[in-house]
Amino acid sequence: MVEYAYTNGNKESAMNFIKNPCPRGPGYDIAFLDRAHAETVRKYHKTFPQYAVTPLVSLKQTAAHFGVSNIYVKNENARFGLNAFKVLGGSYAIGRVIAERLGVPPEEMTYAVLTDPATRAKTGPLTFITATDGNHGRGVAWTAMTLGYDAYVYMPKGTAPERLDNILATGAHAEITDLIYDDVVRYVRKLSEKNGWILVQDTAWEGYTEVSDRIMQGYLTVTDEAAEQLGGATPTHIFVQAGVGSLAATVAAYYSQRYKEAHPFITVVEPDNAACIFQTARANDGRRHAVTDLNTIQAGLACGEPSLTAWEILRQCADGFMTIPDCVAATGMRILASPMAGDTPIEAGESGASAFGAAIELLRPENEAFRKLAGIDENSVILVINTEGATDRENYRRIVWDGQNCRSAADDG
Ligand SMILES: Cc1ncc(COP(=O)(O)O)c(C=O)c1O
Repeated sequence: MVEYAYTNGNKESAMNFIKNPCPRGPGYDIAFLDRAHAETVRKYHKTFPQYAVTPLVSLKQTAAHFGVSNIYVKNENARFGLNAFKVLGGSYAIGRVIAERLGVPPEEMTYAVLTDPATRAKTGPLTFITATDGNHGRGVAWTAMTLGYDAYVYMPKGTAPERLDNILATGAHAEITDLIYDDVVRYVRKLSEKNGWILVQDTAWEGYTEVSDRIMQGYLTVTDEAAEQLGGATPTHIFVQAGVGSLAATVAAYYSQRYKEAHPFITVVEPDNAACIFQTARANDGRRHAVTDLNTIQAGLACGEPSLTAWEILRQCADGFMTIPDCVAATGMRILASPMAGDTPIEAGESGASAFGAAIELLRPENEAFRKLAGIDENSVILVINTEGATDRENYRRIVWDGQNCRSAADDG
């Protein structure tokens, strides 16, 4: 393992990169995240009036500056008008719950069917509940309220008020607790059992995998659109940010099946203070490892326990695991906001820019050792997903305008 240390204010934080040390398959069946399933999911999402294909931005000039062939950013900052990709998972999982009660197969599930007053009359009132750092809960709340149902959303301590307000604006019940994310998940589990509410959680554990699998399938709309937009170009390297790992697992499972021959090098990126997947991979002892600090500006990634299913998939499909200090994500936000001349600027939130920031970090001259490990050279085509826009606008301005979370001058190379 190669390890570098950065000084970020008073705090020492490190960037780590390891190649996947875990034994590869045959293992977990990843067929539920293949192209055929992506087609069904996309067909469903297309029936929403809010649906539009999100842009795949080619940062050709920025890529040239950093010495690679191209950097593509799939930009999810305006998905369904909600600032993040997460609604794709919640809307698919909730749709499946309702469709099942109607006896409608997934292939025939549409927005029109779900919003038909006859549907609501058939299902009666339903209440959905979830824990969230912000984006997932907003997607669940928005979907439930749009389809005529109720939603309860609970958030961890320290959540930015804007993220709470966005959920309250959907009409759902929402509150910030004094718990860390993983304890909020346990709390909503109990509430759902006690009240008979439907838990729509984007992470899996023993006995809870069906809904979370559907949430992961919902994310296939992102991976499938991007593959189509890439046309003939096959990415050689994909960087994907992780909280509990559901998005990363979808990305790894989908692309490793779609690009079977070319096999892009897939790296999972986490904040150094919330690197539960990295710690699990590094330990390589057959157990999932938890972390509890979770102090990071990358709020969407501040999760301390890997999803059961996501880890099973990443163990066999991911190629690298990486941790970054907050300053790397912040630099990613700044470069996306102001790329090389000729490239399109992109508004990206702290968690949104994380994987892009990580990729850029590897491309800096001083990080040649990392590049060698990942096999990055001048022919590399990098794909990342900007998973959110400015979901905390005050902090966005502090970072992008005022230079908060800056790499120290000494480390600038
Ligand atoms: C903006 C953003 N990006 C990435 C993720 C990571 O997704 P996952 O928890 O599935 O790893 C999240 C999770 O909430 C998020 O909000």
